[in-house]
Amino acid sequence: MSTISLSQYLAREEVQHGLDPQLSRLLTGVSEACKNIAWLVHSGALAGVLGLAGSENVQGEDQKKLDIISNDIFVDAVAQTGTVCGMVSEEIPEVIRIADNLPIGPYLICFDPLDGSSNIDINVSIGSIFSVLPAKEAKRDVTDDDFMQTGEHQVAAGYCMYGPQTQLVITLGRGVAMFTLDPKTGTFVLTNEDVKVAREAKEFAINCSNMRHWEAPVKRYVAELLEGKTGVRGKDFNMRWVAAMVAEVHRILQRGGIFMYPRDNRDLSKPGKLRLLYEANPMSFLMENAGAAATNGHQRILTVQPEKIHQRVAVFLGAAEEVETVTSYHAE
Ligand code: F6P
Ligand code: MN
Repeated sequence: MSTISLSQYLAREEVQHGLDPQLSRLLTGVSEACKNIAWLVHSGALAGVLGLAGSENVQGEDQKKLDIISNDIFVDAVAQTGTVCGMVSEEIPEVIRIADNLPIGPYLICFDPLDGSSNIDINVSIGSIFSVLPAKEAKRDVTDDDFMQTGEHQVAAGYCMYGPQTQLVITLGRGVAMFTLDPKTGTFVLTNEDVKVAREAKEFAINCSNMRHWEAPVKRYVAELLEGKTGVRGKDFNMRWVAAMVAEVHRILQRGGIFMYPRDNRDLSKPGKLRLLYEANPMSFLMENAGAAATNGHQRILTVQPEKIHQRVAVFLGAAEEVETVTSYHAE
């Protein structure tokens, strides 16, 4: 059986769809970072990388050693490609500029170097998420302002999941492609070229421990799902919660469903838990490219105008029919 590697896939995209070779190089750099992180994740205690780093990120969350190490690997691998002029990372409060001794390029990248941190030390799936934006101009002194672009501007996005297999999932705005890391050769091999999510779903994912804090439309929607066959929805729904957005999105891309992280009434200054630039936007871009949908309950996530680099947003993503239903409840 002949296989297609990530580099062959990117070369084909360059020839057939005019993919910018610089963007291709950037994605190769991202894939190199992911391979290195995958090796550390899979080595765990043997590589001495588990446990707390003893610091907090800008959102006040405890940083794990692997959060910091993954961030450093990502920053370095991306900077070496010479294709970006700035980065935003979940782990770093300010915009990251490129060192003077390295070339810059026309792209900006936002990433969550290791998503699902609470899973790190228990050997459960985690991942890296990234989103690529065009820079208005390639300059060294990028600021937060340069990143205030809606998700519709993304030119590429994706994630790498470190699970039983390491899988890289990307979109260039024309469908979604899935690659599996061959541990024998260290090559990402194309294993699913046309990922599609069905409009209908039988599975949902939400952290029900927050139910008492949800807003009315979410309470109503989830109550109707829980009523099953005998309720207004007329069918039974199954529930899953991995506590890593990467793994929830990956499941939905494979077998459908809806994932939700709504805003709630605990802290109205926080519109949800997930971050717009490096969690919600890239995953929404993937979803739309797989025929699914993503809203914040009121509008497409990809049209939400960012105001801060670490801004949070409510997220409803996955099967179009379900996302439309819960979004319509918000309008009532
Ligand atoms: O990055 C935030 C995150 O870890 C997501 O990956 C995940 O979906 C969510 O938080 C888990 O939230 P909770 O702690 O409520 O289970
Ligand atoms: Mn995350």
